[in-house]
Amino acid sequence: MQSPKAFVFTAHGAKMPAIGYGTMELPHRPAELVAAAIAAGYRHIDTARKYGTEERVGEGIRASGIARNELFVTTKVTEENAREADFLRSAETSLKALGLDYVDLLLVHWPQPKVSFGETLGALAKAKRTGLARHIGVSNFTLDMLEEAVRVCPEPLVTNQVEYHAYLPQDRMLAALRRHGMILTAYCPVARGKLLDDPVVGDIGQARGKTQAQICLRWLIQQSMVAAVPRALEETHIIENLDVFDFSLSEEEMRRISALRSRNIRIANPPERAPSWDVETVS
Ligand SMILES: NC(=O)c1ccc[n+]([C@@H]2O[C@H](COP(=O)([O-])OP(=O)(O)OC[C@H]3O[C@@H](n4cnc5c(N)ncnc54)[C@H](OP(=O)(O)O)[C@@H]3O)[C@@H](O)[C@H]2O)c1
Repeated sequence: MQSPKAFVFTAHGAKMPAIGYGTMELPHRPAELVAAAIAAGYRHIDTARKYGTEERVGEGIRASGIARNELFVTTKVTEENAREADFLRSAETSLKALGLDYVDLLLVHWPQPKVSFGETLGALAKAKRTGLARHIGVSNFTLDMLEEAVRVCPEPLVTNQVEYHAYLPQDRMLAALRRHGMILTAYCPVARGKLLDDPVVGDIGQARGKTQAQICLRWLIQQSMVAAVPRALEETHIIENLDVFDFSLSEEEMRRISALRSRNIRIANPPERAPSWDVETVS
């Protein structure tokens, strides 16, 4: 049996717990849900300025009574704030909203084609150097954007947070991130529920005595340097999503789930801000 400690991924000094609690759209009792997640054992919380949940996340953290240094908290700066002064102001606003002195990870939420990467990534690095964030990274960057970001950013990037689940291949992105010693943080890790009715996932779950969501999450984190940030409102789901460290999928099971990639379903694709995504060859 593997310990959850084996599932803290390290990148450029950042220690990211493999399963985080996603906080986009928590319509009811958000602070209680965050506190419940921490009580269940989550040590990684994913929020963003855009989600409007930072205040409630902060409340939940305080209500949980957890020591600050035991938590890994991520937030993100929106693409409207890609210019240096706006970017740093947004990061400071996030800290105020969260009631924290620093975040563990600050991300550029979406690429902004109207502002040079040099300026945005420079501001991101400044947020780290001035202590607003311990570590930095990007989100929704394509392969070319990732290469440019790594090249122009004066501080190391620890992750690209992108949509990743068994219905969406990310082979080239994973290879690029591993080459840079970075983590892929998978959002929509259960494809917003679409994967939970999949017969292959169901079969494997039945054989293993695990739920479909647990199989999907285990498939992700069992790949090297892949973390996942599922969001759940049901407390039973919150608890079960963290209970994925006491079993392993066989190579054959991993392959069967990976074969679902031919569905090639992308969920988060807002036309006003999504870049032109890389095309993966799917067999
Ligand atoms: N960087 C970005 O641009 C970006 C974009 C999208 C999302 N994200 C991050 O990723 C997080 C998760 O993404 P997401 O919410 O879009 O998708 P998701 O986590 O794949 O799906 C959430 C849905 O799955 C259900 N679910 C979760 N665990 C379950 C379980 N054990 N059993 C049954 N159903 C379960 C939830 O149901 P219940 O609510 O009923 O429990 C909810 O309806 C977000 O909260 C956010 O932090 C980031």
